[in-house]
Amino acid sequence: MPAGREVAAAGKYRGLVGNPLQTLSLADLRRRTSEKWRRYPPDVLPLWVAEMDVPLAEPVARALTEAVALGDTGYPLDGTDYASALAGFARERWGWAPTVEHTRLVPDVMLGIVETVRLVTGYGDAVVISPPVYPPFYDFLRGADRRVVEAPLNAEYRLDPDALDRAFAEAVAGGRQAAYLLCSPHNPTGTVHTADELAMVIELSDRYGVRVVVDEIHAPLIYPGVTFRPYLSMPGSERGLTLLSASKAWNLAGVKAALAVAGPAAVDDLARMPKVAGDGASHLGALAHTAALRYGGPWLDELLAGLDQNRRLLGDLLAEHLPQVRYRPPEGTYLTWLDCRDLVLPDGDSGAPADPAQVFLERGRVALVSGPLFGTGGTGHARFNLATSPELVTEAVRRMAAALR
Ligand SMILES: Cc1ncc(COP(=O)(O)O)c(C=O)c1O
Repeated sequence: MPAGREVAAAGKYRGLVGNPLQTLSLADLRRRTSEKWRRYPPDVLPLWVAEMDVPLAEPVARALTEAVALGDTGYPLDGTDYASALAGFARERWGWAPTVEHTRLVPDVMLGIVETVRLVTGYGDAVVISPPVYPPFYDFLRGADRRVVEAPLNAEYRLDPDALDRAFAEAVAGGRQAAYLLCSPHNPTGTVHTADELAMVIELSDRYGVRVVVDEIHAPLIYPGVTFRPYLSMPGSERGLTLLSASKAWNLAGVKAALAVAGPAAVDDLARMPKVAGDGASHLGALAHTAALRYGGPWLDELLAGLDQNRRLLGDLLAEHLPQVRYRPPEGTYLTWLDCRDLVLPDGDSGAPADPAQVFLERGRVALVSGPLFGTGGTGHARFNLATSPELVTEAVRRMAAALR
């Protein structure tokens, strides 16, 4: 497409009043010192790690600046403010609320997952995960001396009952304890699991005695027309444990805090979590997350409108410039999973098929996340982060297409 039409295409997706994805210039963003902006040289457009190119929501910025002005930078109390803010948000958005007394403050979602998995499994036990999935699931579970058993998603990126059945059987073989770590919504495909799919998980996990731990960090990021169903709102989920956080939806990865929530039959398990497990949460984090959940709803809606435009823009741009890339718009999250297996790529080192993310980085100067890191099903894929301006989404696809010429 000629340059003029390209600009017009991006223009069609601009102009949302208050779109936080259109506030910061590339020059502003390049002044950031976080991993997203400093991992690669300045000529690389970074659309990899799950950070967003947005300013802070005003209520969050206010909570943080007031705390800094007051020197209110001590230890967090116990997370009950955060939990009651989450309960208010969850009740309004999802028609379900966690019981504040059944929650624990944890430093972040990944450390919360590790502590929770430790409550319901022992040394060397298996934890089932559904690849392609968030790469640190592998590292953190193995680091906690758990065995990873894979139950891959099906070709439509949905949970696969047969794969889960096989994986659960393998996980509990020999009478061992086991857990299933469910990513809901799913990173990297943006799949939002339906109530029927969650009911299937409950049925199978009950049959095998597998405990379910659910990572719902992306749950506030759901697109119009899609319904998110919190795992613990499902009948039969009473033994489940969920991790929730404001960190993805309000871009707060640098001010850490998260919540572990127990279903009614897992309360005694959560009570066994050592007190020190929560000590790594930051007071500033808890304040920021609380403000986000309590007052950040209007900002989130503007963000979601911008992301919704971007997921459609990406589809149009790929159809135009890279029609061999298969793309299913995500149902939730700002992450998208690009199936690049039909692209003709130069051979990689040692003559093996090249990794598309590597080609886009080296020849196009766009950083995506390499598919094989996400486990089985990742080869030939790359993860693209939509949480930027329409102009940078457009520029990224232009660079990706140019990389293949
Ligand atoms: C599914 C999922 N879980 C956990 C995390 C990390 O969360 P935290 O920084 O709270 O550990 C991410 C970050 O992108 C994620 O996508």
